[in-house]
Amino acid sequence: MDNPVLETQLTSAETEASVRPRRLALTLLAIIGAFVVAIAFITIFRPPDPYIGDVLRLQGSAAQGKVIFQMNCATCHGLTGDGLVGPNLHHVSSRKSRIGLIQQVISGKTPPMPQFQPNSQEMADLLRYLESL
Ligand code: HEC
Repeated sequence: MDNPVLETQLTSAETEASVRPRRLALTLLAIIGAFVVAIAFITIFRPPDPYIGDVLRLQGSAAQGKVIFQMNCATCHGLTGDGLVGPNLHHVSSRKSRIGLIQQVISGKTPPMPQFQPNSQEMADLLRYLESL
């Protein structure tokens, strides 16, 4: 390598080759970062589920909730919620938040408990009953 021109060209070609993947990695990181920030924003500022909002605003009736419970839930949780196939529900509201209780009923995420679709008034009644157990 006695030729200084050739040497300089080689060095700059080398630099270019090593910078390009780094630039690509940085761009990818920036894109991933932007995604993470966007998802965090959506999660934090997501408007509350309108159904849950309705249920929480409504005044439930425990007596009405008891009737709904005995028709839909008692086969598994017992006539008074003291447990059969499903767990005993006495004091369940000290273990689960109101939103947690609503989600338990409507989500169907813990089989064999099915997914229920009570209208918001029925759900408010059920919630009131569950809180009275
Ligand atoms: C087919 C049986 C079945 C029916 C019907 C059923 N459940 Fe359940 N339920 C379960 C089982 C099983 C669990 C436990 C799920 C788990 O956590 O793995 C459960 C869990 C629960 C829990 C959470 C208990 C806790 O300690 O965290 C609540 C609250 C509940 N059920 C309410 C209801 C209500 C209200 C209804 C009626 C609308 C209902 N369930 C109908 C089987 C049933």
